[in-house]
Amino acid sequence: MEKIRIFGDPNLKLRGRIRISGAKNAALPALAASLLTREKMRLRNVPLVTDVFTMLTLLKDLGAEYNIRKNSLSVQVKTINSPEASYKLVRAMRASILVLGPLLARYGKAVVALPGGCAIGSRPTDLHIGGFEKLGATIVLEHGYIRAEAKQLTGTTIAFEKKTVGGTENLAMAAALAKGESILKNCAVEPEVSELCKLLVKMGARIDGIGEETMRIQGVPELGGASHQIIPDRIEAGTFLIAGALASDEIVLTHVRPDNIMTLIDKMRSSGVEIEKINNNTLRVKGCPDLKPQDITTSSFPGFPTDMQAQFTVLMTQADGTSIITETIFDRRFSHINELLRLGASIEVSGDKAIVRGKSPLSGAETTATDLRASASLVLAGLIASGETIINDAYHLDRGYEKIEEKLNALGAHIERFRE
Ligand code: EPZ
Repeated sequence: MEKIRIFGDPNLKLRGRIRISGAKNAALPALAASLLTREKMRLRNVPLVTDVFTMLTLLKDLGAEYNIRKNSLSVQVKTINSPEASYKLVRAMRASILVLGPLLARYGKAVVALPGGCAIGSRPTDLHIGGFEKLGATIVLEHGYIRAEAKQLTGTTIAFEKKTVGGTENLAMAAALAKGESILKNCAVEPEVSELCKLLVKMGARIDGIGEETMRIQGVPELGGASHQIIPDRIEAGTFLIAGALASDEIVLTHVRPDNIMTLIDKMRSSGVEIEKINNNTLRVKGCPDLKPQDITTSSFPGFPTDMQAQFTVLMTQADGTSIITETIFDRRFSHINELLRLGASIEVSGDKAIVRGKSPLSGAETTATDLRASASLVLAGLIASGETIINDAYHLDRGYEKIEEKLNALGAHIERFRE
């Protein structure tokens, strides 16, 4: 099994420049959108992370051909050979559910295993299914699969009971090829959702209100191919900002979009971290020895991102005082905390809150990754823990971070990967 060993140092001083990769959570819906057309889709700045390869394997099973050269790829689905997304692949990645909408819209049928993915609470699909039924699909849940059929999807009004990134993306893709107009209300407005909609418009979709909570989509008979650049990964950028605040002289992040993580930046600045926007694509962050505690509550964009909650919790272990971390998006997204306790953190979980008491000196220990962002928080803690930290099940990290140990070692960290 893949493991990571971090030789930590409480006085570590990372320095240098780091190029942020393309966003996994923008690349995955863009790949799913290739099912909507028989023409070629060209994507640049694609992060070479496990989830992208899982999605490509799934698309190949459905009938896609693809070609990858460095971080650029072309994918084309001339015909859909099978509408079935197998349990093996869907279990590995929840985002597989994003093929449901495109398959229904283009092929009229989809058979998708109920998703698995990260171990972060229950991950229902009721908002996706409810939306497809409103568009006229008949859906049966049996033997762990979602079986959906629709001769022709028909536009209508869909109001999401709660904000759902994947649900908004899935229904936008389906509505783009439905007959007539759809109005989607209470849409998620994460940058990755807007980017998918911009790609759909490049493919010929007619969408008004991109980036707003209400989108109006006029269905068209067919969509064409397109070429698109994947936006920078705001969660990778946020993760490296925290690394810089914890363990650097100063580091510079390039190829970022600061506007997509302003809430995080504001919170870090309130805690005393010096973050400078050098230009629209570059941030400088300096190490901060005197962190002040901060309370955060995760919420949909533009609020504090749930995908940065575990990483920010590590930062607060080094603040002098008590911080309250409230997780409102997922239930039980605290699986990283037991592992942080093993490294010497002082954190108490009560319901949807984690109460962090700092400043706690951390000491290296053997730990186990449980999900993608939890594993990132263990890397951050390991960097500043005295002694050696081992992270078991390191494959979680590779789902969403491209070459993270190479990037950190280039800044002066000492991380190695090994098998046992
Ligand atoms: C996307 O997941 C991201 N994944 C997640 O990132 C991210 O944490 C999440 O959005 C929230 O921002 C991708 O984009 C591939 P949701 P998604 O539908 O779409 C509930 C990472 O680390 N819900 O917005 O699955 C759900 O249980 C990953 O990169 C329903 O109740 O998230 C959750 O509590 C982790 N019914 C809340 O809504 C549904 O039908 C938000 O989920 C769908 C969701």
